[in-house]
Amino acid sequence: MQTAQRTLALAVTGQADVPGGPAGGPPGPLAGGSPDPRADGSPGPRLGRSDALELGALPGAVPSARLHARLILSEWRLDQLAADVELVVSELTSNAVTATRAAGLDAPVRLTLLADSASVLVVVWDAAPGQPVLRPIDAEDESGRGLTIVASLSAWWDCKPAPPGHGGKLVRAYLREEERCA
Ligand SMILES: Nc1ncnc2c1ncn2[C@@H]1O[C@H](COP(=O)(O)OP(=O)(O)O)[C@@H](O)[C@H]1O
Ligand SMILES: [Mg+2]
Repeated sequence: MQTAQRTLALAVTGQADVPGGPAGGPPGPLAGGSPDPRADGSPGPRLGRSDALELGALPGAVPSARLHARLILSEWRLDQLAADVELVVSELTSNAVTATRAAGLDAPVRLTLLADSASVLVVVWDAAPGQPVLRPIDAEDESGRGLTIVASLSAWWDCKPAPPGHGGKLVRAYLREEERCA
């Protein structure tokens, strides 16, 4: 059995797992317990609730991540943000799986959700090389819209290298209730 299949593991973690994540494995999004600096160095949100899910880089990862996000946001009573977060989770997880498989890596992808009472930070780690590239939408194109959707639903999004020792990168999107259209 391939490692990608073996690594299909559900891990709902407590806050203790978030800063830095397990050594040598997929990291949590808040390296070293810092106040979540964005890629441009500006401070990010402090978010108290956290949850993580590690998935094999398989097509089933995307619907699994999406369903998981929906259930967690319901438990966190953030239903107003659930539809947008689901979409963002779907797009970022899909990109992570695609990049991991394209690189021929036998590595999982990891979804982390962090939240307070009115905002959610979606973080997707993957081990693949390359960067997300926001492309102008061409009406003829049937692909290339994922990051445009992420950007339109998020207050901000970014991509930064994972903390030293972990490898790979973190793609993050921050969604706030106040940015939602009524
Ligand atoms: N996690 C990632 N790792 C490497 N490259 C990525 C990642 N996410 C996105 N990209 C790059 O950014 C491009 C645009 O992504 P996206 O807007 O989701 O469109 P699509 O996935 O349909 O190509 C992708 O084609 C890919 O080249
Ligand atoms: Mg995509």
